[in-house]
Amino acid sequence: MKTRITELFEIQHPILQGGMHFVGFAEMAAAVSNAGGLGIITGLTQRTPELLAKEIARCREMTDKPFGVNLTFLPAVNQPDYPGYVKAIIEGGVKIVETAGNNPAKWLPALKENGIKVIHKCTSVRHSLKAEAIGCDAVSVDGFECGGHPGEDDVPNFVLLPRAAEELKIPFVASGGVANGRQLVAALAMGADGINMGTRFIATKEAPVHQNVKQAIVDATELDTRLIMRPLRNTERVLNNPAVERLLAKERELGAAVSFADIAAEIAGVYPKIMIDGDMDAGGWSCGMVAGLIHDIPTCQALIDGIMSDAEQIIRGRLEAML
Ligand SMILES: Cc1cc2nc3c(=O)[nH]c(=O)nc-3n(C[C@H](O)[C@H](O)[C@H](O)COP(=O)(O)O)c2cc1C
Repeated sequence: MKTRITELFEIQHPILQGGMHFVGFAEMAAAVSNAGGLGIITGLTQRTPELLAKEIARCREMTDKPFGVNLTFLPAVNQPDYPGYVKAIIEGGVKIVETAGNNPAKWLPALKENGIKVIHKCTSVRHSLKAEAIGCDAVSVDGFECGGHPGEDDVPNFVLLPRAAEELKIPFVASGGVANGRQLVAALAMGADGINMGTRFIATKEAPVHQNVKQAIVDATELDTRLIMRPLRNTERVLNNPAVERLLAKERELGAAVSFADIAAEIAGVYPKIMIDGDMDAGGWSCGMVAGLIHDIPTCQALIDGIMSDAEQIIRGRLEAML
């Protein structure tokens, strides 16, 4: 399949793996890229720019295909060393960056001067248009159903994607809620040039996370996620567990007065405990409603091949036959 996204990123299939904290290590990115998609290393999971440089080098040893790095701009008081991370990306010869969390304008000149293509992930048409206006090459349009941070507009992809298609000139991928071939076809029909998946890629053989995480995703249904940090306007979709129930009870109790400090016990430092130790009740961790569509733990190659062959069958068989 050839789309504007496969052309832009020089990849075989229009399937991206979004940056994921404590999941997007070199093993994950290389497995997706080797399977013909675009794997993405999560920059900030590496504590320093030096460690990111090493992770990029490690990934390059595992694949000769293109891969990207995710740079998430956090609303944190103590800002990470973003100039250092950008330098590590440039010096590491990475040619694709996925930005998220905030407007990447400040970093675009340095990235563009070094021939790096930027895909900005955002959750609204207005932010997508902003990304286009400042010179991003593509957008990842993240609907309300997505795992992680869906923003505060709550527009699901069945409306958000065709709205993006009405307005955008640059190519975009459908992100959030996607796991299979029929959804790839639907995304293409709604104007996208590909898909971006997060949660689906965690439940793969190569994902470098504890088996408990993969099994939790397989066991979950589409009813099992919750939205936390709504009152802080930092909404995150997470898999429900006792820690999340506790956090939500605090939010209900404290109302608008709730602060990060009140819920730190349920969110701070949670990712290594979940992803590495497999302590599934350690706190809230991002997970999409798409868990309801995930029933197996395939290799990335089997997953991507399956999505592509199902999509082709649907286009050539089901859709063609309807005309
Ligand atoms: C465990 C997990 C961690 C994530 N961490 C990040 C992150 O650090 N930066 C980011 O831009 N997106 C992050 N995301 C969002 C994904 O890149 C992607 O946009 C999202 O998962 C798409 O929705 P889906 O899970 O329904 O496929 C994360 C998602 C998950 C599930």
